[in-house]
Amino acid sequence: MRIGNYTFEKLKEKYGTPLYLYDETIIINNLNTYKTNFKSDLFQTEIVYAGKAFLTKYMTQLIKRHNLALDCVSIGEVYTAVKAGFDPEKIVFHGNNKTEAELIFALNNRVGTIIIDNLFEAELLLNLQSETYRPKAMLRVNLAYDVNTHKYIKTSIEDSKFGVSVNEKSIQMIKRLSESKKVNFIGLHSHIGSQILEEDYFYNHAKIMLKIYHDLKINQQIDLPQLNLGGGFGIKYIESDQELDLPVVLKKLIKTVEEESLKYNLNLEKVLVEPGRSIVGNAGYTLYTIDQIKKTKHLNYLFIDGSMNDNIRTALYQAKYEAIIVGKENETPTTNYKVAGNACETGDIIIEDIKLPTAFPNDLLLVKNTGAYHYSMASNYNRFPIPAVVFVNDNELKLVVRRQTLADLIRYDQSS
Ligand SMILES: Cc1ncc(COP(=O)(O)O)c(C=O)c1O
Repeated sequence: MRIGNYTFEKLKEKYGTPLYLYDETIIINNLNTYKTNFKSDLFQTEIVYAGKAFLTKYMTQLIKRHNLALDCVSIGEVYTAVKAGFDPEKIVFHGNNKTEAELIFALNNRVGTIIIDNLFEAELLLNLQSETYRPKAMLRVNLAYDVNTHKYIKTSIEDSKFGVSVNEKSIQMIKRLSESKKVNFIGLHSHIGSQILEEDYFYNHAKIMLKIYHDLKINQQIDLPQLNLGGGFGIKYIESDQELDLPVVLKKLIKTVEEESLKYNLNLEKVLVEPGRSIVGNAGYTLYTIDQIKKTKHLNYLFIDGSMNDNIRTALYQAKYEAIIVGKENETPTTNYKVAGNACETGDIIIEDIKLPTAFPNDLLLVKNTGAYHYSMASNYNRFPIPAVVFVNDNELKLVVRRQTLADLIRYDQSS
């Protein structure tokens, strides 16, 4: 088992463990799947990579080389992108609680599009004193639309913290925004949630949005030129996950938007999607060293040299993963293990239960599909350093983020 032309033993020797590894070829294939299938003869399309899934300067440059736009959710993400040389015009700035200072930061950096989360934020933006720069703006709507995914990643259910319901008040705001000289109001945004594996949710979502566009056109004479449908395209983490056939889904989504916009006689100029997980998720692996093996009354624990600090998804979302012991891929799995980390928490579990060949200390454990929401959610809990990130592109290795050192852990501490 290799990544590009490299064995995992070689990668451990060079960079140590735990180690985040990315197969760049897979990321590029994923980007191309979007570029090839999400396109229309009726309107332009844009793929906006959701940086929250995984963002570093190198990743930003890769996104730039492939001509995608970038969804940033904080000024930290905007700063990273700008410092990496990303064109700010292609940044879509999100966040459910942007402060005045953050909006000013975005305007000063000439961020292309601001996604306004709520009416309070809309007022804030409309009242900013920026005579020089007029950003594009969209309003995020909440459709009270439930989807089958973990409750923490449903984002458009009733009372969700994201977006605004379409009602009299928000329609008044859409009118004001459309007439404003402060912003160039281009449309609505809606993201229904993440890790969605049932395709019909995406088509129905598009239909609901286009009906809203139709109603705005008929009742308010507002004909919005752009529509942002968010992300949410799920990936296969384990064998039993039903996989989205992404090329088919994207083509059908485009067809749905085309049909509905023709039916309603809309003048859509551009439709955007914001995939994150489905761009980087299956391109990432985490490599650990198995240190100790502990038997309790009912369980066999594999203690690895990482923890919930580098993978919070099991604790947070009860996520499930597949893994292999490097070099034993072809051996028969004989033993059920619970893979636990070294953080001081009972909930510090990476894999609840996995059947593997018999493991020994110093074996390497490779956990698959860890490219999204792993490094980006990593922490220094218990003062463990955050692992390095390495990109592999056939026979090229690129250290994208160096491993934190012990000295890094006290870098911000002030002595008395
Ligand atoms: C507004 C928005 N767009 C896009 C995404 C990316 O979602 P995913 O990684 O599921 O594609 C998210 C994730 O939470 C989001 O909140």
